[in-house]
Amino acid sequence: MTSSFQSPRAARPPGFIYRDTKHGLLRRDGPPVLHCENVPIPKLVKKYGTPLYLYSAGMIHERYAVFDRAFRDIDHTICYSVKANSNLGILRLLARKGCGFDVVSGGELQRVLAADKKAAKRVVFSGVGKTREELTAALKSEIMLFNVESESELWALAECAGRLHTTAPVALRVNPDVAAETHPYISTGLHKHKFGVPIRDARELYHKLSSARYLKVRGVSVHIGSQITDAAPFGQAMSRVADLVGELREDGHSIAYVDAGGGLGISYEKPASNFSEEVTAYARALTGPLRDLGVRLLLEPGRSIVGPAGVLVTSVVYKKANNGKRFLVVDAAMNDLIRPALYGAHHEIVPILQRTDAGIKPETVDIVGPICETGDFFARDRQMSGVEEGDLLAILDAGAYGMALASNYNTRPRAAELLVAGTSAKVIRRREKISDLLRDEL
Ligand code: LLP
Repeated sequence: MTSSFQSPRAARPPGFIYRDTKHGLLRRDGPPVLHCENVPIPKLVKKYGTPLYLYSAGMIHERYAVFDRAFRDIDHTICYSVKANSNLGILRLLARKGCGFDVVSGGELQRVLAADKKAAKRVVFSGVGKTREELTAALKSEIMLFNVESESELWALAECAGRLHTTAPVALRVNPDVAAETHPYISTGLHKHKFGVPIRDARELYHKLSSARYLKVRGVSVHIGSQITDAAPFGQAMSRVADLVGELREDGHSIAYVDAGGGLGISYEKPASNFSEEVTAYARALTGPLRDLGVRLLLEPGRSIVGPAGVLVTSVVYKKANNGKRFLVVDAAMNDLIRPALYGAHHEIVPILQRTDAGIKPETVDIVGPICETGDFFARDRQMSGVEEGDLLAILDAGAYGMALASNYNTRPRAAELLVAGTSAKVIRRREKISDLLRDEL
């Protein structure tokens, strides 16, 4: 697959495009059908049911490669942010490319090790509340870097490392006090946020930490938030970090790594964007201030790698109208994809069969799930054409923070996940059963 491929009936090329199909369930003269790579989605639904998460392996590869290429002029390691989509199938696919990982819990670390034991040396451990058990597990795995977020955590890490007679490689996560335009729940780089240590206190803390026997200063880290589509705040944060690196070196610390965190946003509204140009602008913003510092740049992208590479497929269960307000009630719900409910996030929703018959009038509908909350919606006042009960819809850009945030609310088993490569579709997570949910209850 190449990024130059564009279809006139594209949904999220190259992974998700409409094609005419002549086989399977579909009539030769039927409407164009949304495919995941080379597989018609209705064929997968027939076998695996809905709600169903589908990921395009080719698109994940390609986005990873584009990201990697954008930073080719600087020594760097991409540490994919596991929280965005932590399925082992996806971690394995990235590990095979030599990708590193950003983890925020002992559980995520275990996932990475299960995907590829040797990836530990490319793991950074972030998070504001790492427990001693988690720190110890990460020390034993000999990960690359601990992004420490407070003085108390520093001493906890020193204590754990001391017990193991080892030395912990440390970066302090600094809070650069840079505002970035995004949803307030996922903005992290202001002094009022719980993350990191204020950049003005960092120098003193590095001084303290350098005298700790079981800690070793290795770098500086920063992460200003998520779903940020403007490169400027990344550049601002990096300039502040670069200044700090200069000061720390004056103080005699050896700074080998700068971890820029993640946060590059994707366009949820537009049918297709030029990812390569966006990442290039992002790379320019980050690398400009770091030029001549001779550090290895660590990057923690999550959403920008997997977001557009996944869709959530759902069936329309009912159509209804209340006093003229129209609804499509679908079989996926906020427990499967919480982003619209939690952040008011927009996701494009497209029919799997693209009916183009003349005479079909668009309707304005709310697309809602069956959960007993008004917040259980995927779209409000959305124009949809010719959607009937039993039809399939794809909720686009659901590859990041979709399944990863899924829950069992309303005792709803979680969806199955498939990884599609060309004509092959592999189950990377079986559909949960009600019995799985009841099993651990006494
Ligand atoms: N590094 C750190 C330290 C982070 O906290 C995050 C995301 C990332 C990297 C990856 O950021 P990304 O490249 O994916 O933007 N559930 C929200 C997003 C939460 C992001 C949390 N931290 C959503 O659905 O929009």
